[in-house]
Amino acid sequence: MRGTTIYLFELAWILPSVAIPVGMLVALIVTAYGAGIQVPGDAGRVDPTRLAETALFNEPGVVEVGPLRYEARIVAGVWFFTPNEIRVPAGSTVSFIATSRDIVHGFSLHGANVNLMLLPGRIARATARFDRPGEHLFLCHEYCGIAHHTMFGKVVVEARP
Ligand code: CUA
Repeated sequence: MRGTTIYLFELAWILPSVAIPVGMLVALIVTAYGAGIQVPGDAGRVDPTRLAETALFNEPGVVEVGPLRYEARIVAGVWFFTPNEIRVPAGSTVSFIATSRDIVHGFSLHGANVNLMLLPGRIARATARFDRPGEHLFLCHEYCGIAHHTMFGKVVVEARP
């Protein structure tokens, strides 16, 4: 009888130790293929000391690249985003292409599936669609120093006439 109890205790520990990694793997697969959540892609490299001369980042801002398609080219630095306001019409698909000029920053956009780490030297990219007019706050979510909390901006989705 005692042997059976020990066996059950072992089982009680072994089962979770198998179930937890299996559960994590399933969560990974479901979020990657079902919910479309991806590890922010490394969209290239850039010399952070030469952003002013580098295409994409020499003129940060919003560029129309097609009908209702925009590219937001963003440079993060202590402690601001350039640009810190992005205006697009409702129904737009926006590719956010961003990098950091100095240290590690973040880019978390509320109400959209966009959450990037902005590393100096790396280009981060994510795309979101904005169907309804409104405002979406984006902010730096990597602690980057004394004025980290002031580092934010917004995407303004305007109603179409
Ligand atoms: Cu930039 Cu926190």
